[in-house]
Amino acid sequence: MRGKAVVVTGCSSGIGRATAIYLAHIGYTVFATVRKEADASALRQLSEPDLVPVWPLDLGRSDHITAALRVIDDELARRNLQGLHAIVNNAGGGVVAPLELLDVERLRSEFEARVLGPLALLQGALPLIRQAQGRVVWITTPSLMPIPFVASIHVPDFAVNGLARTLNLELKRWRIPSIMVRCGTIQTAAPDRTARELQAGMQAWPPDRLDLYRDELAAQQAELAQYDAKRTAPEEVARVVSKALSAARPRRRYRVGRLSGLAAAVELLPQSTIDFIMLHR
Ligand SMILES: NC(=O)c1ccc[n+]([C@@H]2O[C@H](COP(=O)([O-])OP(=O)(O)OC[C@H]3O[C@@H](n4cnc5c(N)ncnc54)[C@H](OP(=O)(O)O)[C@@H]3O)[C@@H](O)[C@H]2O)c1
Repeated sequence: MRGKAVVVTGCSSGIGRATAIYLAHIGYTVFATVRKEADASALRQLSEPDLVPVWPLDLGRSDHITAALRVIDDELARRNLQGLHAIVNNAGGGVVAPLELLDVERLRSEFEARVLGPLALLQGALPLIRQAQGRVVWITTPSLMPIPFVASIHVPDFAVNGLARTLNLELKRWRIPSIMVRCGTIQTAAPDRTARELQAGMQAWPPDRLDLYRDELAAQQAELAQYDAKRTAPEEVARVVSKALSAARPRRRYRVGRLSGLAAAVELLPQSTIDFIMLHR
């Protein structure tokens, strides 16, 4: 992998951090983007010469995107590397909330992190990707399904899916594949964070409207807690990303992690059957 450079977004924790470290470990030069200086410093302390923290990159900020691209360009030149082998679009958050009570600004920022920011980053980076005949990777949920109360994660995912597949068509003549790595339940900081944010959200929502959803939300949280003990390590995702980056003929979709197979199978069912499962699970 020597001589190949990749960008991974959202490397402060979870899948992004594990992927950046793994890819650097096997020889890629990795531009690991983070939003906070403390996270850049934590990556620097790993003393991995091929791991280059890039900060601040908040994908909702076009000035950050422009500045990050400049840093990447300069560092490629300094290291005498030709172009970018890949961008791994990983950054994203999301909250648990019924659509009736979901903070629209939060959904907007999720679209910035998962859809609009990555597209702007890609637009800036495409000349470099074309130069290396590279590829684009998208970390996504395991299937396109409407799941109650997690629309802020799954609705942007529908858009990511559309972007990834459209890029496959538009970039085909340069042989730049756009690849989805569809993840099941992965052991990261995200479940605890969303549970904490849900508790805070519940304090802020009007009690009469929260009462309409309280029982269902509690039941769903209890169901999710069962999965928490059995989540897949983020390093597994890193290995699958690495496979997607090194395959001579990469697949358009990879899947990894607990429940990813089941979710992909359910996705193929008729919409009415999926709705029935969602309402009665
Ligand atoms: N965990 C799972 O089970 C699972 C399953 C399927 C798909 N995924 C997807 O995998 C990706 C990573 O999730 P994770 O579980 O590893 O979560 P995580 O540990 O919370 O990591 C999310 C990363 O995204 C960054 N981020 C969020 N918003 C951003 C923005 N606007 N600009 C730049 N960076 C931003 C975060 O930075 P800060 O630290 O600064 O907030 C953090 O580095 C997400 O896109 C998620 O939807 C996760």
